[in-house]
Formats: sequence, C-alpha cells, structure tokens
Amino acid sequence: MIPDADTPEMNLHLPEDTFFTNLQGNPAEIPLRFERLFRTYLPNLPFVATNALDLQTFADLGKCHCRLRSKPFASFVVDWGGPDEDRLVPDHIQGVWDVSWNEHSLQVVHATWQTECGRQQRYWVFALDASIAREFMLELARQTNDPGESVLVFRSGEWERSEEMYQMIRSTSLDELILPGTQREEMLADFHQFLIAKDQYDALGIAWRRGAILMGPPGNGKTHFLRTLVQQLKIPCLYVQCLDHPYYTSEQLLDLVFDRARQLRPALLIFEDLDSLINEENRSFFLNQLDGFEKNTGLIVVATTNHPERIDSAILDRPSRFDRKYEFGLPSQSERQRFLYLWRDKLSKLVPWNGDAIPQLVESSADFSYAYLKELMVSSLLRWLHGNSNPASRPPFEQVLSEQCELLQLQRMPPNDV
Ligand SMILES: Nc1ncnc2c1ncn2[C@@H]1O[C@H](COP(=O)(O)OP(=O)(O)O)[C@@H](O)[C@H]1O
Ligand SMILES: [Mg+2]
Repeated sequence: MIPDADTPEMNLHLPEDTFFTNLQGNPAEIPLRFERLFRTYLPNLPFVATNALDLQTFADLGKCHCRLRSKPFASFVVDWGGPDEDRLVPDHIQGVWDVSWNEHSLQVVHATWQTECGRQQRYWVFALDASIAREFMLELARQTNDPGESVLVFRSGEWERSEEMYQMIRSTSLDELILPGTQREEMLADFHQFLIAKDQYDALGIAWRRGAILMGPPGNGKTHFLRTLVQQLKIPCLYVQCLDHPYYTSEQLLDLVFDRARQLRPALLIFEDLDSLINEENRSFFLNQLDGFEKNTGLIVVATTNHPERIDSAILDRPSRFDRKYEFGLPSQSERQRFLYLWRDKLSKLVPWNGDAIPQLVESSADFSYAYLKELMVSSLLRWLHGNSNPASRPPFEQVLSEQCELLQLQRMPPNDV
C-alpha cells in the first residue's frame, strides 16, 4: 500500500524485499535507488543521510532506545564477544530501526554493500521534522565520539572502543613501576606540566603540542609506564594497533588516525612499537601529520620502540616531532634488588620466604629485564605451589627460586633479539 502523498506519516512500511532488491546492481546507484523508494512510499517524511552512525553505542550508553523491525527482511550475523564478553553479539549490516530519543520517534534505515574498495554503508534517519533528525545525529556523534570509560583502538582501518583495555589500564599500579632515580616522577611531571601550560605556550607563540618516544629493550616498563600515564592524565586515549588495510592507502589510514585524535583534543595518541607500524611506504604521510603546527594543538603523541635503530632519523631526531626521548634500560643491581623485595612483600601471604636469597639472586640475574625477573617470581611460585601436592614436603622457596633463575639464564635470549 502506498500512502496518500499529503499525509505525513511516521511509519516506514517498506516492501518485504527492500534490501534484496535494492542492494543489487551498480553500487553507485544503490543510495539513489533507496531514496527513490523512500520517496515512493513516504513522499512527505523528511530524512537525513549519513555514512556513519554508531547507533548501537548510543543505545548502549543509554541515550536512546532502538528496536530492529522484523520487516523488511534483513540478514545479520553474530560474533562471539570473546572470553571477556562471553556472549553472541549481533552484527547488523542492514535493517530498519525504530528509535526513541528524548520524546521523539525516529526511524533509521541502514544498508551495507560491497564495492571494489571494500564495504560501504549508508544510514537514513527519518523524523517528522528534518531538524529533529539533525539534532539526533549531532548528539549521537558527540556522545559516541567521546571515548568515556574506554580506550579507542585503531585496527582494521577503523577506531573501536575498548572497555577491556581501559579496565586493564585502570588496574595497572604506578607503585610497582621501578625506574632509576626520579625518572618516573620527572616523566609524569613533564606531561602534567605540559597539559596545564596552554596559556604559556600561547603567550610565547609556541605550538601547544608534545611528542615523546619511550625506547629500550623489551620488558623494561615502556608499556607499563604508558598505562600509568593514561591513568593519570585523564584525557581521551587513542591507541594505534595496526596501520594495515587491504583497500585504504597509507595516507587515508593516517588521516583517519590523526583526524579522530584531533577531534578529541586534548588527547593522548599512542603508537606502540612504532618501528613495526611505520615503514618506507607510510613514513612521509606520518611525518606530514606530525608536522602540522596548528592542527596538532593539544595533541600528545607518544610512541614506544624496542628497536630505535630501525626508526628513520627524520622521525627520531627532529625535536619538533618527538621532543623527548626516554630510555627504559635493563634494571641495575639496586633496581633488581628493589624489584625482588617488592615481590617478596607481594608474595608474603602465599609463601614462607623472608627474602634471604635476594642478594644472591640479584647477582645471578644480571642482564635480566624486569619482565624476566617477573617470570622468575611467577614460575617459582607456580613450581613451589604445584610441584608437590603435599605442602609439608615442599622444598624451601629459596631453593626453587635459585633453580628457576638458573633455568631462565639458560633460556634467556639476548634482549635485542625479541
Ligand atoms: N620498570 C619496571 N618496574 C617494574 N616492573 C616492570 C618494569 N618493567 C617491566 N615490568 C614488568 O614486566 C611487564 C612487561 O613490561 P612492559 O611494560 O610490557 O615492557 P616493554 O613495554 O618495555 O616491553 C610489566 O607488566 C611489569 O609487570
Ligand atoms: Mg611494550
């Protein structure tokens, strides 16, 4: 039934085969075909079209209610949410939603199709008045753009929210991070002072932006420090995990990365293992993005690397790109000692160990990274707890520690080979 052309009606009754029929043929015509259909079935109902609308996140944030219509027929798949979200999560690639938001009723049509350059999609938002549709879209964009209690992670050519990473960051303890002298406090102060110094930067005519690179052999606290930095700065955190995509060019990918970070300023943009993200092909685009004076105001870019020698000097050695370099070296003798005492206290409720063997362990763990020292503690604990089912006949914990230390010495790879 085609409604009377003069009756404004807020009910989008599309034919059962809408998606089946209109998602065929030349992809360039698909949006036009849908819009012709809307005009035929609902000539007076205004709509606004967009390529991105994170309706699910907006609903998850409790900002609107939406219900998928059973008609027209739409196909969808379910994905497992992973061990942390152990349920089947539906992934709709097309459908018609009834949305209620702030006393308003809206309807959203979503269509996805494949082109030679990957997946394309379009959303049409219908409301009795186009201004309501626009207000809704603006509010949705603002709210879903804000990462809130999540970290934005860039992979597969798009930004995704990760609540899991946010929780992991929250549970990382600054007190457990051991660094030489006052390095830890100085680094944190450097970022804190930057954040509150916008007026001074402006007065001096200096761009209010900051870049730092954390470098050193694996397992010495670069990632651990970054997590505590995110915890402390309390600004949006964007984390670049992968810069590969089958269709997007490097330039497009880096645009997507920096554009989103700029929208959230002041923000912290993290490139972990920079040497594996930047290569000859994308280096010039990366430099282009870093160099913007105006456009990077309020952006803190932090990179880490286990292999600074693999990073081009154009990135590493120009102060305007990464102003500061922080070294995360292997622990010294006294730092190994601090680490082992910290663990003795941490394990005090689990194992009878007064720390007697620490001086000897400090000597025999020269060249261990912190991650190796941690492995020494964890593997010794597991061995001691589970090596003998009868607690009374367990060997002294010191003995297990020294055996494990010897074993790790043998297994240990030179730090730069990881
Ligand atoms: N400086 C440190 N002080 C205390 N623990 C550390 C330190 N460095 C590393 N660790 C331990 O080793 C683990 C792995 O270190 P990580 O920060 O991932 O190293 P990196 O990023 O330098 O390769 C950390 O989660 C932490 O438990
Ligand atoms: Mg790391």
